[in-house]
Amino acid sequence: MDMTDTFAYRGGHLACEACRAEDIARAVGTPCYVYSRAAIEANARALADAFAPAKPLLCYSIKANGNLAILKLLKDLGLGFDIVSGGELDRALRVGADPAKVVFAGVGKTRAEVRQALQAGILMFNVESEPELAAIQAVAAGLGTQARVALRLNPDIDPKTHRHITTGKRETKFGIDFESARALVARMPQWPAVRLVGYHAHIGSQVTDPRPHAASLAKLIAFAGECVPPGGAIEYVNIGGGFGIDYVPGQAPPPSAFAELLLPLLAQAARPFRLLMEPGRFIVGNAGVLLTRVAYVKRNSDGRRFVILDAAMNDLLRPALYDAHHRIWPAASDSPFESDGLAPADVVGPVCESGDTFAKERPLPEVAEGDLVAIFGAGAYGFAMSSNYNARPRPCEVLVDGSHHRVVRRRESFDDLVRLETL
Ligand code: LLP
Repeated sequence: MDMTDTFAYRGGHLACEACRAEDIARAVGTPCYVYSRAAIEANARALADAFAPAKPLLCYSIKANGNLAILKLLKDLGLGFDIVSGGELDRALRVGADPAKVVFAGVGKTRAEVRQALQAGILMFNVESEPELAAIQAVAAGLGTQARVALRLNPDIDPKTHRHITTGKRETKFGIDFESARALVARMPQWPAVRLVGYHAHIGSQVTDPRPHAASLAKLIAFAGECVPPGGAIEYVNIGGGFGIDYVPGQAPPPSAFAELLLPLLAQAARPFRLLMEPGRFIVGNAGVLLTRVAYVKRNSDGRRFVILDAAMNDLLRPALYDAHHRIWPAASDSPFESDGLAPADVVGPVCESGDTFAKERPLPEVAEGDLVAIFGAGAYGFAMSSNYNARPRPCEVLVDGSHHRVVRRRESFDDLVRLETL
């Protein structure tokens, strides 16, 4: 879905569904995250529809945005969840998630987390190493149960995205190379409290070319055909997440472009596999904006213009961490995103670091103190990666539904910041 569908300028004012951004900001203060229910649901449906012939189980990747209200929406739509910690499992269970639709990834699951997940009855662990397999065996045997697992394979494929979010290359810490995996599968009877039921790969995030995903799935299917555990069967292939979005229009292909390449591979597989997917960013990324007000405009003698916002890198880390590009535009504008002829500005936050920069030399209309500005594409890995750096209370989160908006996480207070400390 195009971000302009639900975050659109109407009559010179940015709206989220039928709510004006300015009205929300006035009601809840800034900075604030604003999410569109319609966009979240439309994105989830678009992915499900594109892959419908394979009847995939979509496991929403909670790390992208773990707000309970959002998890509840997605659970009600029938999605499962991809978790990476006991904390994420707890969030999923709090919204009534069906544990049989939960998959658990990560290279460093603790025994306590494994126990918690087994007791909850999750669908499977995505296992990343032999020692992890041994740990799961020990915990499952102790509980007198059997754990379902998929091996996370490292297909050594370059997803052509930012190096910090590349995960499927051999040199990353993720997954098991095919040779080691082959040896592990042959030895599966060593771990009787573990049942191997699938293979998993996640090659990276914000992937905008469907071919690496297709190459990865082809490798998974070939491996699953050839590498069956003694006395067992492989039911699932999990291609992870990573489906890219338009941070600027035209960046990412629609889900149908991924489906077009992936579905035939499944259809042609010698045996039927249940498809699992772990989308995060695709579902929430463009369903959220960060609203912030201009604190000051500062001009240097060399002509440089700094637009200083009340949001900072602690609220939205992606630009500082990855040089990520997010569209930034005033909420009141008669010519949205028309940047021709505009003077550039450095858009920065108040935190004491040069890295606290949302955009460098970005063409931007003239703005004044107090003007409301939107940072787009902030629904994924926005609030989720926020911190209290500089003792800044984190923003509130607002969910819009038609003409209504409600705070789904209140703004933190100074009391919240010191609550866990003692003198
Ligand atoms: N599955 C696994 C095993 C993952 O590691 C991830 C993301 C996903 C699914 C979901 O990926 P998505 O569909 O959201 O691309 N903080 C970075 C992104 C880190 C992604 C980590 N893993 C960012 O802001 O770009």
